[in-house]
Amino acid sequence: MEIFTQPVIFVIFGGTGDLNWRKINPALYNLYLDGYFPENFAIINSGRKDLTDEDIREKMLEGVNKFSRKGKADKEKWETFAEKITYQPADIMEDKSFQTFGETIKQYEKTWGEKAIVIFYMSVAAQFFSVIAEKIKRNKLAEDIEHSRIVVEKPFGHDLESARELNNLFCTNFDEKQIYRIDHYLGKEAVQNIMAFRFANAILEPLWNRNYIEHVQISVSEQIGVGSRGGFYEGAGALRDMVQNHILQLLCLIGMEAPVSFDADEVRNKKVDVLRSMRRFKADELKYNVVRGQYGDGWVEGEKVKGYREEADVDPKSSVETFAAVKFFVDNWRWFDVPFYVRTGKRMPEKSSVITIQFRDVPHKIFPTETSDTWRQNRLVISIQPDMSIRFRVQAKIPGVEMALNNVDMVFDYDDSFSEESTPEAYETLLLDTMTGDQTLYMRGDQVEEAWKLLMPVLDNWAAKPANDFPNYAADTWGPEAANALLARDGYHWFTLNTKKSK
Ligand code: BG6
Repeated sequence: MEIFTQPVIFVIFGGTGDLNWRKINPALYNLYLDGYFPENFAIINSGRKDLTDEDIREKMLEGVNKFSRKGKADKEKWETFAEKITYQPADIMEDKSFQTFGETIKQYEKTWGEKAIVIFYMSVAAQFFSVIAEKIKRNKLAEDIEHSRIVVEKPFGHDLESARELNNLFCTNFDEKQIYRIDHYLGKEAVQNIMAFRFANAILEPLWNRNYIEHVQISVSEQIGVGSRGGFYEGAGALRDMVQNHILQLLCLIGMEAPVSFDADEVRNKKVDVLRSMRRFKADELKYNVVRGQYGDGWVEGEKVKGYREEADVDPKSSVETFAAVKFFVDNWRWFDVPFYVRTGKRMPEKSSVITIQFRDVPHKIFPTETSDTWRQNRLVISIQPDMSIRFRVQAKIPGVEMALNNVDMVFDYDDSFSEESTPEAYETLLLDTMTGDQTLYMRGDQVEEAWKLLMPVLDNWAAKPANDFPNYAADTWGPEAANALLARDGYHWFTLNTKKSK
């Protein structure tokens, strides 16, 4: 990679928040350790609290020591990095705060004798996005399209209408080239590898279509409950929190046509084509295609855990789903009538994100049934986390004098092929891309809107008809029975990857 030499300034709104502490700052520090920062850079953390530079440095060091994949910070290296970190108290309602940002930026640029890339990072609750965007614009902090960028955390909108409003607001204040809408799944190493796997290997393309693929599954399960995020989650639910963004992005990577080049807009054009091709649900089809669930109490690793309705800041009668399963179709030549089943939920038995591509059976079986009572169709399993691997299931002859078959896996495992040290956190990749100006792994406005468009009939239906069977799955189970029925009706079952790591 080309060495990045242009000075860079990060202005982090929500600088005292959890995300900065756990993810953003440790990622910036790791980028610094790996030599990705230019000589001249500055990280301005901003928040309402009255803190000093020393206070924020101490807090950030604590975060690095707790959460960095590289472990505790080296004293000397941290101190050199920490000199670049400052704190600026700000009231985002006041223009004055933004004028101060402007002066600070100018001061840095004067000292460095060069214009900096300035990255405004909105790590704040969604209701503050618009006011920050307007203030940045009004105080002329992002006039230079080539040198200023805006990073926005999810959720990008609450529904189609609010996403459109937000897009309008962002697009009237900034150029799309400046807007970096985060979906951290796109920064995950094994997610980026889907494109490499599909488009750097010639053998897959002839098989990658409805002629050979029977169905696709995308399963993103979490063991944790909502924890302290009950307040946020009550306004979200699994469909908004995970399907609208992360899961649909994974589906796009599996479903997209080959881009002409690795150019950001070209890749995003191909992804948005998938979303545009997805079959829209009619009201009377919903019951056959979508399932919602909410966890009740139960036991997780020997400990009693609360049901969702008992969690802090959650309505005891809440109808918010903590689990969602959907059967999608992509109506184009490649995928017509191939079901894409997706599911996600909290308080499931393990944390794992797995994509399964189930191939069609052989057209004619020449082996007598008794040679293989474990006959299975070919299957490609792309595991994103915690196990990072790709497994291709094939039939093989069991060694011996007789003809007997069993299924075996051909495995590519990151741990065996590459050293773990080389795997960056999603945020490291994404933050580096904001510095170099690469939007490939960021969501474009039209993608976000298409994803909302697709899900609105489901969200509207669920809002109009509160669930009367919640809670409908116990903690530490794979979701409501109806989610199994969704696949069973088509003759399939949900696939789970049993590896030691995913336990
Ligand atoms: C976030 C959701 O976007 O993704 C959380 O808001 C969820 O609810 C998280 O827990 C999962 O991310 P990861 O990287 O742990 O799979």
